[in-house]
Amino acid sequence: MVVGATLFAVSIAAGTGAPGTTLGLKAVGGSFRSLFVMVGGGMVLLALAVAALASHSITRPFRRLVYALNESEKTGRLKPEFPVDSSVHDLNRLAEALNGAARSAHMSRTELDRTCLQFIETMSQALDARDPYTAGHSIRVSAYASAVATEMRLPARDVEIIRIAAQLHDVGKIGVPDAVLLKPGGLTLEEYNLVKLHTKTGRRILERVGKFEEFIPVVELHHENYDGSGYPYGLAGDLIPLSARIVHVADSFDAMTTSRSYRMALPLQAAIEELENNAGGQFDPEITEVFLRLIAEGKQEEILMAADRGVVDAMPASSNRFPVLQA
Ligand SMILES: [Fe+2]
Repeated sequence: MVVGATLFAVSIAAGTGAPGTTLGLKAVGGSFRSLFVMVGGGMVLLALAVAALASHSITRPFRRLVYALNESEKTGRLKPEFPVDSSVHDLNRLAEALNGAARSAHMSRTELDRTCLQFIETMSQALDARDPYTAGHSIRVSAYASAVATEMRLPARDVEIIRIAAQLHDVGKIGVPDAVLLKPGGLTLEEYNLVKLHTKTGRRILERVGKFEEFIPVVELHHENYDGSGYPYGLAGDLIPLSARIVHVADSFDAMTTSRSYRMALPLQAAIEELENNAGGQFDPEITEVFLRLIAEGKQEEILMAADRGVVDAMPASSNRFPVLQA
């Protein structure tokens, strides 16, 4: 308004034709042009800046969303961590929908893992029950092994892995024919080699279920001996995972203290001496010491009661506390 009025006044003055006035008006006109250029340029820059800010406030959350999706694709896990703090409402709704999908996928995966684990545990117990002499064996080995792991003050997560892995340790015996597994007498070399394959078969079973790789060392290596004389690889000492060394002692003790189709159970004292004599040879000496301490402290009854609570149905009806167990 002021600028318009000034221009009007200037145009009237220009009409007078006075030379001094003409020069002055030219100078004023030049100043106004400069002013227009500056103001116009400033407005354009301001508009660009506002547009850039507005654009950034939209594209930044969008880029974060795309980044989160890319990360999910890389890891194969959809996490409910999509940002919902955008100024664009629809973008937040999209992020919330993705978070909901991620939560559902997580719940489904957890449920699937639990179902797979229950299935394999049940299969393992059913395999024990193929032979009435070994029914309940895996659950007792699990109770012994987790008691030793707890006594060794291993982290709770490791104890839990050992507890579950011990239940599954002989799952590979599904590949051993009944004629061999239930044979009352001694095995031929060929038959024994067939039985030995159960460690690798067990590994292959668990490998198919990606979540269970943490149980594989026990399943595959629970027949490795501390002195390197075991199978399937002849590993020795610390090259054998601690979990597998623990289960090896628990497995052997349970086998010795229970009757089999081909022999009677050893008396408890004989089994203790067997462990003592083979500490440092077949068995890890430190683990053997811990195990024997538990037995000496009278914890065996308590451990077996825990096993009973876990697998009452798998125990032979006629079995007593120290009945019919074997590896
Ligand atoms: Fe085994």
